Amino acid sequence: MKAFPQTFYWGGATAANQVEGAFLEDGKGLSTSDVQPHGVFGDVVERVPGDTGLKDIAIDFYHRYPDDIALFAEMGFNCLRVSIAWTRIFPNGDDAEPNEAGLAFYDTLFDEMAKHHITPLVTLSHYEMPWALVKNYGGWGNRKVIGFFERYARTVFERYKGKVKLWLTFNEINMSLHAPMTGVGLPSDSSKAEVYQAIHHQLVASALAVKACHEIVPEGKIGNMLLGGLMYPLSCKPDDVFKTLQENRGWQFFGDVQARGAYPGYMLRYFRDNGFALEITDADRDALKSTIDFISFSYYMTGCVTADDALNQKARGNILNMVPNPHLESSEWGWQIDPLGLRTLLNVLWDRYQKPLFIVENGLGAKDKVEADGSINDDYRISYLNDHLVQAREAIEDGVELMGFTSWGPIDLVSASKAELSKRYGFIYVDRHDDGTGTLARSKKKSFDWYKEVIATNGASLKA
Ligand code: BG6
Repeated sequence: MKAFPQTFYWGGATAANQVEGAFLEDGKGLSTSDVQPHGVFGDVVERVPGDTGLKDIAIDFYHRYPDDIALFAEMGFNCLRVSIAWTRIFPNGDDAEPNEAGLAFYDTLFDEMAKHHITPLVTLSHYEMPWALVKNYGGWGNRKVIGFFERYARTVFERYKGKVKLWLTFNEINMSLHAPMTGVGLPSDSSKAEVYQAIHHQLVASALAVKACHEIVPEGKIGNMLLGGLMYPLSCKPDDVFKTLQENRGWQFFGDVQARGAYPGYMLRYFRDNGFALEITDADRDALKSTIDFISFSYYMTGCVTADDALNQKARGNILNMVPNPHLESSEWGWQIDPLGLRTLLNVLWDRYQKPLFIVENGLGAKDKVEADGSINDDYRISYLNDHLVQAREAIEDGVELMGFTSWGPIDLVSASKAELSKRYGFIYVDRHDDGTGTLARSKKKSFDWYKEVIATNGASLKA
């Protein structure tokens, strides 16, 4: 009988800037996310005292986390992915000392999880960095930021080594190519060469964090985090197939460096062909040799690639420039739904790296309707998650080593791409809306009990 391993991590995934709120409380500094009130692709808007953005309060997880964690525990979560806001620990990034109030917040958060036997899976940097490091140093374009990040990583490893054993370095590290401010703190009109130099610094910082984690938390495990942007050729024309290989290498490159410890030849050729003279020192090459223990990734959709320029078009609302697949349906936000693609991706990653895999984001962003009796019948979400989990189980049958599944947004949160609240992912509804109104009250959707049963039966209740 097909089954998930008994040790499987079941849970949900969140990010500090999308749930916590309290954006300037207890000494927290401004982050890049705080100055991007319109989402990860949005313009930077310098904050002025008194103005508000949706993420400033978000869903107020900073104050309500004990109740939210109790609800996650009720669903049977044995794992919860959260991120630490770097700006709670080092408000400006280059501060002489860490901010004790920020460190104390995550202590109590991890203690609360422990009370419910929930294992924390912690992202060091999820789509945010101290804004002061961007203003004063030029973001990841500046080599000095590597040292600031390493100090931050070492500080949190030391502080939480008894409480946190599972770590991730940078969320969707390949997104910097599409959203440079969000990924590496560079303006959107930066040249490709500048972006790749900043990415190089971030890859070195990621490897130094891996090294530090192995030293400080020897019994822990640390992974990378990729946006699993699997692409298919639009046709079987050899040109389309080759271009697809190159497009997939666009994201695989990050995994190749992080899992294998060196730049792949195809990337060095790409830099040569484009005249990018990156500064990569011997010390950098040495640092990159500290490789991750497991590969984690997000999976929402697949897309197609064509070498025919006339056919190239942007998929509606899509975060990547992907040609729509004529065989797939789309979500309300134009993200194409492809459960079998998850099985393909898991196999591709396993074949390529032979390292344990962890699906740390997957879910359906949709508009939910609250009925007169307060119920929310999100059958579309149940069906999306059911079908993806069935394919994850198939991949396990294929021989893939899969550590766990944390669905994106187990509780409604502020979306990343456009900073909306109407795009909901949760099993738990939050009464807050795009215009900022709402009581912030929580209520269970139909999917709450569905996921609870999936976890309780270790997947046996899924409908194949
Ligand atoms: C991933 C991010 O890109 O997708 C999350 O890691 C994000 O932060 C999620 O929220 C879903 O995207 P969106 O734009 O629907 O929130």
